[in-house]
Amino acid sequence: MNLFEKSFLYITITLLSLLTVCSKPDNKRIVLAVGGAPSEVEFWEKIAAQCTEQTGIELQLIRQPTDTDQRRQNLVTALRAKKATPDIFLMDVAWIAQFAGSNWLEPLQPFMDKHTISDTSFFESVVKQADHYDNKLIALPVYVDGGLLYYRKDLLKKYGYEKPPETWNEFIDCAKTITEKERQKNKNFVGYVWQGAQYEGLTCNFLEFAGSDKPGIVIDSSSPIIHTKRNIEAATLMRDLIEPYNISPQNTYTDMKEEEVRIAFQSGNALFERNWPYAWKLHQSEGSAVKGLTGVALLPHFKDGRSASTLGGWHIGLSRFSKQKDKAFTCIAYLLSSEVQKQFTIQLGWNPGRPDVYNDSTVLQIMQHAPILKEVFNHTVVRPVVPYYSYMSAVIQRYLNAVLSGKIEASAAFIDCEKELQEISRRYSK
Ligand code: GLC
Repeated sequence: MNLFEKSFLYITITLLSLLTVCSKPDNKRIVLAVGGAPSEVEFWEKIAAQCTEQTGIELQLIRQPTDTDQRRQNLVTALRAKKATPDIFLMDVAWIAQFAGSNWLEPLQPFMDKHTISDTSFFESVVKQADHYDNKLIALPVYVDGGLLYYRKDLLKKYGYEKPPETWNEFIDCAKTITEKERQKNKNFVGYVWQGAQYEGLTCNFLEFAGSDKPGIVIDSSSPIIHTKRNIEAATLMRDLIEPYNISPQNTYTDMKEEEVRIAFQSGNALFERNWPYAWKLHQSEGSAVKGLTGVALLPHFKDGRSASTLGGWHIGLSRFSKQKDKAFTCIAYLLSSEVQKQFTIQLGWNPGRPDVYNDSTVLQIMQHAPILKEVFNHTVVRPVVPYYSYMSAVIQRYLNAVLSGKIEASAAFIDCEKELQEISRRYSK
C-alpha cells in the first residue's frame, strides 16, 4: 500500500466512523411530536434535553404547528402510514377517541406496572373520562384545561357584590347592573366575553352553559341526543346574553375565540370572561390592565343545576407502531413526573394533570387560584368520547352559531341538529 492508498484508507475509515456517530440509527432515539405556541415549543426543547440527560435516552422533538387541527392532521398522516416515529405525541383530549378507535394507541397499563408510575397520581375524573377507551388506559394527561370564570374583583367590590354570582339569574342581574354603570364612562365596556365563533371552542362553551348534571350531548346506545329542554334553555341563554340583554358583544358569534376574548378582558373592557387557565398568567403580566384585579371562579349554572367546566387539555400517547415502546414509556414517565410538571406550571402557566403539584409551595405562590382550579377539575364535563366526535362537533357548531346570530330558534335548531348527528353516528358507528 503506497502513501496515497494509506491516507485514502485512513480518511475513509475516519469518515465512516464519524458517520456512524453522527447518524445514530433511528432505533436509538425516541421521537416526540409536540406543537403549541412558539414559546411552548421552545420550552419543550429544554425539557427534551433534560429528559435525555436524566434518563440516558435521547429524546428528539418533531416541532408541530400551533393549530390543533393541523397537529391532528400531521399525526394522522404518520399513523395511517404505520410509521415507527413519532414514538410518542401529544393529543388534544377532543381527538383521543379517534386515535384509540383507529387502534393507533398502545395500551399503557403494562408499562405503568413495570414503572413506579400509577394512574392514581393523576386527577381521577380526568383519567377515567378521557384517557380510557374500551376499558383500556391509552393516554395520560400532560396538562388539563377547564373552562373558568374570570372576573373583575375591583368592580364587584365597587358595586357592593361580596362574591361572584353562582347562578345564571344572579349573573345576569350583576352583569347588567355593573355594565350599564361602567358603560357611562367607557362605551366599549361589556359584561361577559366568551367563545362564540364557529369553531371547537363554541361546543366547549355550550357544554358549560348546559351544565354537568346532564351533559349537553348524550350518546345513548349510539344515538346522539341534543334536543333537550336544558339544551334549548342553554342555547337560548347564550343568544339572550347578546340580545336582548346586551351583556355580551355582538361580535361574540363572529370573532370570539380564546385570544380575542382574553384580549378584551385584559384591556379592561369586560367584567366577566370565560377562558381556559392559560389566560391567568397573561392577565397578571406586566402591562395588563387587569393585573392584580382578576379573580377566578367556577362558571355559573342554572338554579337547579351545577357548575360545569368542559374538559380540555393535552394528553400523551404511545404509538402502537413504535419499535421501542419500553424506552418511549420511560420518557413518558419522566415527562409526567412531578418535577417536570412543576416546571410546565411555573414557566408556562399550564395546569398539570397531577394534583400533588398544586400543593407545591412555589406553584402556590404563582398560582393563588390553584385551590379553585382543583375544584374546577373535579367538575368537568367531557366531550363525547367517540371516534367521530370531530364530525359531530362541526355540525353542532354550525347550528349553535346560527342560534347566536338570531337566524334560528334554539328548539328548531336542535331538532335538525339531532337528525344530522344521528346520521353521522349511523355512518361511523361500528
Ligand atoms: C383548548 C383546549 C382544547 C380545546 C380547545 C378549543 O386548547 O385545551 O381541548 O379543544 O381549547 O378551542
